[in-house]
Amino acid sequence: MVAELIKGNEIAQAKRNEMKEEVRKLKEGGIVPGLVVIIVGEDPASLSYVRGKTKACKQVGIDGKLIELAEETTEEKLLAIIEQYNNDEACHGILVQLPLPKHISDTSVIEAISPEKDVDGFHPINIGRMMTGQRAFLPCTPFGIVEMVKAKNIQIEGKHVVVIGRSNIVGKPVGQLFLNENATVTYCHSRTPNMKEITRQADILIVAVGKKEFIGKDYIKPGAVVIDVGINRKEDGKLTGDVVFEEAEEIASYLTPVPKGVGPMTITMLLQNTILSAKWSHQ
Ligand code: GUN
Repeated sequence: MVAELIKGNEIAQAKRNEMKEEVRKLKEGGIVPGLVVIIVGEDPASLSYVRGKTKACKQVGIDGKLIELAEETTEEKLLAIIEQYNNDEACHGILVQLPLPKHISDTSVIEAISPEKDVDGFHPINIGRMMTGQRAFLPCTPFGIVEMVKAKNIQIEGKHVVVIGRSNIVGKPVGQLFLNENATVTYCHSRTPNMKEITRQADILIVAVGKKEFIGKDYIKPGAVVIDVGINRKEDGKLTGDVVFEEAEEIASYLTPVPKGVGPMTITMLLQNTILSAKWSHQ
């Protein structure tokens, strides 16, 4: 079997084209969706990532504003800026890029963002709403993964989804979203014994371990859907996932490539959340 690729870049582009139209209509009604992205410090990878976010905003007509703060910025100052945008009606989404410098508490910053503008879906209120199935901002990478699977018309209900990884940003919430879609969900992580025995039962295997080419074909049930969330750099500079692509391709029914897989979906769902926030704020 040669797996069919789930091309995140194509699904993302189709969604962004629909969003352009949605934003155009909102603007006709006098609503301009606005996103404020805040970065503290000069980490080159993070800077390139946030610039990508504001560039994507422009693509669909969202008013994206990037605020670059010096590494020495105090937590107090950052919290004051967040408060300013919490109270700014033109701003529908606030995103503070993580990681933050050591002298600033991630938790204090995440909890300072109004849950109604938390387009990252990181605030405990949104996590709670997601868990109880209420209307919430869903974290962008997990949301993007569910949307990719749905775009391929792959059945989720009743399927066994195995998630490898338990981060707050990806592993934990992605399992919850698949549970909300009526899948049976199992989590594996670094302390799981006999991991292969469990992952080989997965109809849908989601790999978010952050280790280069960690999952080979011996972890995968023939015909499984494999979602590779990893982004790692090889010695030759090329990007690769947490899955050995050539091996998974031989055995899976569907597979996400790296790059052009999950990555492009994450920013797209951020745009989606910002548009939703603009709509919800005017209901
Ligand atoms: N750092 C890496 N990924 C993310 C993300 O999705 N949101 C934020 N705020 N920071 C990140």
